[in-house]
Amino acid sequence: MVVIIENYEAAARVLRDNRNLSDRQSARLAAWEAEYPDAVGTLMPFLSQWLMYMDTGEHHSLRRAALSILSADAPTITEQVFDALGAAAGKGEITFNTCISVAAAFHRVLFGLSQSEQEFVIAEGDNILNYMFSSITKEKLIQAAASVTRLEDWVQQQTDRPGLLGAFVTAKLPVAVCINLLVDSYHPVIAATTTVVWKWGKQLLSGERPDDGKERVAACLRQFPPFTMINRRVLDSPTEMYSIQIEACNRGGENSPGGSRPSQKYGMTFGAGKHSCLGAGVSLSYLYALNGALLKLQAVYNVTSVGGEIGSDDGHYQVNDLLIGLEPS
Ligand code: HEM
Repeated sequence: MVVIIENYEAAARVLRDNRNLSDRQSARLAAWEAEYPDAVGTLMPFLSQWLMYMDTGEHHSLRRAALSILSADAPTITEQVFDALGAAAGKGEITFNTCISVAAAFHRVLFGLSQSEQEFVIAEGDNILNYMFSSITKEKLIQAAASVTRLEDWVQQQTDRPGLLGAFVTAKLPVAVCINLLVDSYHPVIAATTTVVWKWGKQLLSGERPDDGKERVAACLRQFPPFTMINRRVLDSPTEMYSIQIEACNRGGENSPGGSRPSQKYGMTFGAGKHSCLGAGVSLSYLYALNGALLKLQAVYNVTSVGGEIGSDDGHYQVNDLLIGLEPS
């Protein structure tokens, strides 16, 4: 039975209650173990080391280690991250693909990846995510297990290199944790990029006074959280699952817009409790810098049209059909 949580206070209670299990994968995989022992034998130990699925004491120390590297070594967001945005504006339109290019540039700078390395990491990572967020089939299991093996082999060799990936590997974080950080940090950033750009376009087109910088970002994250839900298993009742509807919680009115506490500003967007997002700080610096790049654009361009609607079909709030028309002012 799935218990739907749409209330901010109840969501915070569920996430902070350590009796609720974050591991949502092993029960699904166990059902396939007899039939595909090799694939499940690869995936099960790998996913049991992903921070977001770990319920053991080791979680806390691994999390601290990753967070200290993220706080000390995260590269600053350079202007080049927004080159694709400027180029697209010069051509008269900003699209969903423009947002992917900008978010991908952020991800490359953050982890110190070349473009071809990033393509490899994301393609393999998507094979893993593909099995996780949909019904399981034999093909998906085998593909995911093969991707795990290739990614593990590659990550193990990545010492002595700039960026977070080198720092994580050199600090001897488990390879599965490094892969967790690499692949789960890509899609939500794309999603947030599209909503911030879309909202900016809408506000300029309507002549509405645009939110000042940080508030636009915070409002987007509250109203259109990139992850639309967080699940937890109920310890005392193995068949029960809590499904926290982040969007409903954030819009519930408990968060005063612009409030000073993080939970008031961003609601449940970055989770809460012991699994709250490790990348919240770097994601926010990037989104604020994105907002700064948009403010620079609006000094020289007018928005002439805004196409696209926010949708949440694949578990992220994003604007797949984003299309902003621009002309020099
Ligand atoms: C706007 C972008 C992002 C959003 C909205 C987001 C959201 C979230 C949420 C809701 C959780 C909690 C999941 C749960 O409780 O089950 C989470 C966990 C996590 N996030 Fe993010 N995230 C973002 C970007 C990033 C980035 C850039 C990184 C890495 C640099 C990252 C790394 C992680 C990790 C490692 C966890 C698991 C932490 C743990 O279980 O201890 N995230 N994120």
